[in-house]
Amino acid sequence: MSSAKALGMPDKNVHKEFFNVEVDTGGNSFEVFAEQSGITVKVSENESISTALKAAGVKVQVSCEQGTCGTCLCDVTEGIPDHRDVYLTDEEKEDNDQITLCCSRSLTPRLVLDI
Ligand code: FES
Repeated sequence: MSSAKALGMPDKNVHKEFFNVEVDTGGNSFEVFAEQSGITVKVSENESISTALKAAGVKVQVSCEQGTCGTCLCDVTEGIPDHRDVYLTDEEKEDNDQITLCCSRSLTPRLVLDI
């Protein structure tokens, strides 16, 4: 990855593989409004967004649950994500318009998601 970066290759053109990633998924609680579902959930300190949404009956697709595969990627309509994944590139994370629901959290008290 660093070699590709040194050669000036954009992150989006570099294929990455992760085999075991430890992601810190804990943090302060916050609120998530699932726009399409019309459901608001509280995400607790040691709970993921995907777990909170699933418990409220919102269908969320997950696979790795480590922030590596992108299966749980969701558009962010409002709020600022606290990106904990290794799936999104640095540039994509700076856009703050997508979030991985299995491990990322929120820097704002409320996130509005397109789900
Ligand atoms: S399930 Fe793989 S990144 Fe979230």
